[in-house]
Amino acid sequence: MCGIVGYTGPRQAYPVVVKGLKRLEYRGYDSAGVALVNGDLKVFKKKGKVADLEENNVGKDLNGHIGIGHTRWATHGEPSDRNAHPHQSQSGELAMIHNGIIENYAQIKQELLSKGYTFKSDTDTEVLLNFIDDIKKNNNCSVEEALRIALKRVVGAYCILLISKDDPETIIAARKGSPLVIGIGKGEHFLASDASPIIEYTKEVVYVNDYEIAIVRPDELILKNLGNEKQTPYITKLDMELAKIEKGGYEHFMLKEIHEQPETIHDCLRGRLQVETGEIKMGGIQNHIDALVNADRILMVACGTSWHAGLIAEYVFEELCRIPVEVEYASEFRYRNPVVKKGDVIIAISQSGETADTLVALEKAKEQGAFIFGVVNVVGSSIARISHAGAYTHAGPEIGVASTKAFTGQLAVLMMMALKIGYAKGTISKERYLHLMNELDAVPDKVKQILADTSNIERIANKYKDATDALFLGRGYNFPVALEGALKLKEISYIHAEGYPAAEMKHGPIALVDENLPVVFVATKDSYYEKIISNVQEIKARKGRVVAVASEGDNVITTMSEDVMFVPECDEVIAPLLSTIPLQLLSYYVGVAKGYNVDMPRNLAKSVTVE
Ligand code: AGP
Ligand code: GLU
Repeated sequence: MCGIVGYTGPRQAYPVVVKGLKRLEYRGYDSAGVALVNGDLKVFKKKGKVADLEENNVGKDLNGHIGIGHTRWATHGEPSDRNAHPHQSQSGELAMIHNGIIENYAQIKQELLSKGYTFKSDTDTEVLLNFIDDIKKNNNCSVEEALRIALKRVVGAYCILLISKDDPETIIAARKGSPLVIGIGKGEHFLASDASPIIEYTKEVVYVNDYEIAIVRPDELILKNLGNEKQTPYITKLDMELAKIEKGGYEHFMLKEIHEQPETIHDCLRGRLQVETGEIKMGGIQNHIDALVNADRILMVACGTSWHAGLIAEYVFEELCRIPVEVEYASEFRYRNPVVKKGDVIIAISQSGETADTLVALEKAKEQGAFIFGVVNVVGSSIARISHAGAYTHAGPEIGVASTKAFTGQLAVLMMMALKIGYAKGTISKERYLHLMNELDAVPDKVKQILADTSNIERIANKYKDATDALFLGRGYNFPVALEGALKLKEISYIHAEGYPAAEMKHGPIALVDENLPVVFVATKDSYYEKIISNVQEIKARKGRVVAVASEGDNVITTMSEDVMFVPECDEVIAPLLSTIPLQLLSYYVGVAKGYNVDMPRNLAKSVTVE
């Protein structure tokens, strides 16, 4: 949550920072702001999107070769001009942006209030800034030293960038728990929450670690730990294309990302799933095969859509590997004193690799001796780095706040993992293993078939767009798909939607069914098919409006449903990779029909880096 950008070098900083903020806007869009030093320290900020800030700045003097910018996802204080970042210290000397939460801000604020400080905003950020300013004044020390002292008192998560009126070249940055990447140019440096604002200027980057402070000048990058000892920056080469983070002719990122799935799933399988030789090549698994095959238990830890991927993986791993699996909401796992033993394998699933709930859960499990395997999309992200081993999903940058292609990437990786572990363990036959490999290999083409003509799904979306509620039902492998379908609809269209196991519906939710309620059944041909058909009848008997996701050629469900979205037939283990696609499109088209900003739904942020 929240995107931060900084620039120091020979260019005009404002356009670089604003362009970068637009790339990071998916991380939060409650307000935007920029601070520049050009003789004086100037701060420009506005509630709303980066475009609102730009409009508000027309005609102003925006010159300056150093700048920091922020796009906010509010945690402390409502979205407003005065709570927007950058904040300026009471002395007027410093400007700061912050991603994260200062948990003990209230106590520090009290201390500062008693010293006569006043505050212009309700944020925790302004408290930290004045705390730094106060330490600097009292100790008569440098900003860097004051920051170091302040951070020793701070509880919480942060990535901060600080600039000072008296130093028109230096950005001081620090991180703990929220991401920071520094791009190294020729005589210039770029700072950002992820690499997307940096990629067009340089491919050489440094990922800053927790508890590190960076002192960044046009010609110099110094990294230190909180003990003031110099650290050697580890330079990584970015493997990312600019075209991948632009809309490429699509109206929205979400639609582009849905349509990219044949390619992203293919990229994820490529080089790993070797159908000709019957091998699955995954270094992260191969190097730790003993730990994985002999795992007493697997714990999937994730949030949101990634948690749904974990639920699907629970079915797949238990079926193919015969290892007990538990799927945990990272936020609950962290705080309930879970029993984690040596011999447990934790599979952490995260698109961004920065989700704070997941990250802290992993830190705790790691302390208790668990082996952590990361299934992550963003290369070099915090979760990727704290894992003992892992497999990237290779879905490319996902900009739309609603996760689509990252979800199918997670499923593809998890399915390959289960196949590889199950085969090594001897819990699946060679025949079934080869069959499922072939089925997985066929997925990109089958997804392409679903996406070839989406007009039927668009029609269905327009028909049901005014519904106030919706129920999504599925069984077995398709039950978590129903949960994901409901989450997608909620996020994008603000229609209240619930997902349930289809049979569980009769234990309560059936009371909601009337002639107005759309009930979406995920009912592809699998071993639960006959059972789910009975559940469809139960809904019909109560006049519910049945919409089905069904296997091509299924004439039975057609007679019982008002509308059907077909997907090609496939093995039930693989089915979620296909049945989820029409539901992504359904929520997309409902959101568009209702006139909402589907790429940036209200109140949400792409990367939730606060607990
Ligand atoms: C999905 O559409 C979401 N917006 C959200 O639930 C997301 O999946 C969740 O916040 C987890 O994010 P992560 O995969 O980056 O950890
Ligand atoms: N806690 C800060 C605020 O509410 C920063 C939030 C963010 O990460 O955008 O302003």
